[in-house]
Amino acid sequence: MKANQGIALVDRDEDGIDKAFRSDVLAGLRQEQKAIPARWLYDDAGSQLFEDITSLEEYYPTRAETQILQARGAEFRELIGSGRAVVEFGSGSSVKTPLLLRAIDPAAYVPLDISGDFLRQSSAALSAKFPDLPVHPVEADFMKPVTLPDEVERVRKLGFFPGSTIGNMVARTAVDLLRSMRTTLGGSENERPFLLIGMDLVKDIGVLEAAYDDAKGVTAEFNLNLARRINRELEGTIPLDSFVHRAIWNDAYSRIEMHLEATRDLEFDVCEERFSMSAGETIHTENSHKFSPRSANLLLLAGGWTPVARWTDDQDRFSVILAEASEHRNAP
Ligand code: AVJ
Repeated sequence: MKANQGIALVDRDEDGIDKAFRSDVLAGLRQEQKAIPARWLYDDAGSQLFEDITSLEEYYPTRAETQILQARGAEFRELIGSGRAVVEFGSGSSVKTPLLLRAIDPAAYVPLDISGDFLRQSSAALSAKFPDLPVHPVEADFMKPVTLPDEVERVRKLGFFPGSTIGNMVARTAVDLLRSMRTTLGGSENERPFLLIGMDLVKDIGVLEAAYDDAKGVTAEFNLNLARRINRELEGTIPLDSFVHRAIWNDAYSRIEMHLEATRDLEFDVCEERFSMSAGETIHTENSHKFSPRSANLLLLAGGWTPVARWTDDQDRFSVILAEASEHRNAP
């Protein structure tokens, strides 16, 4: 059996509480600046709300990246070649993944996701579109090195990581992930893997803040859903009516931050522990880092990937970068 099969990925206590969720939330709320890791935004409701975000007028990244994938298929094919095993980090979007697969004619498709349900749904949908393509879903946490199925062991890999999800991570975590991806994708010195990765670009602050604070309030709902989830799953009493969504550009860190801001002095409990907040105090819930061409390259290089080509949409809002695993060599 594969090392990453058959393992329950969610560890629950006797009351059915997700232990990692509880410890992240409690530790985060005890901090001076309250903060909860963004991955907890994506329960079923949160994932659906994010889907809704991707079609909002103000939220340009999904459209911009899709446009690049649509327009550049011939170039992907020329640089990447056919017969690769495409390893997607995340279970894949019904729109972006087919665009890549049609362009490069791969030997196999291997989606990696921590949520088995998503994985099975999206793999089935993909198999229906590509009946001749072998699909090997792997339920795993891709933040750590993953053992791939034997069927693709000898096939040269292309990692695919669209959506600027890398932007959710602080630099140190992003570098750890890039290095894990390299380990996952393997390959010898002459058969080094490629990575095709989406990275959102720095732009006008008004455009960025609107993309994360839309007029219909869908992003606000997405953010507040985290507090709702805490109330439901962790015996929480967070007064949702007394919090507002904030999307703030942090220039020093080159990122949009999402916060939940208390509109009055208040108190609440989570798992029988009491927390208090003053009016104006926030819980930091997500980072979305934005890159320049150089900062994107530097991050990839730090993670062991050498950029080989870069594309942007017609308004220079978003970039897709093709990188090759860096050669191991002595250099100055
Ligand atoms: C899923 C991480 C790409 O940062 O743009 C969208 C998440 N949060 N609106 C992003 C998100 C609020 C999104 N990513």
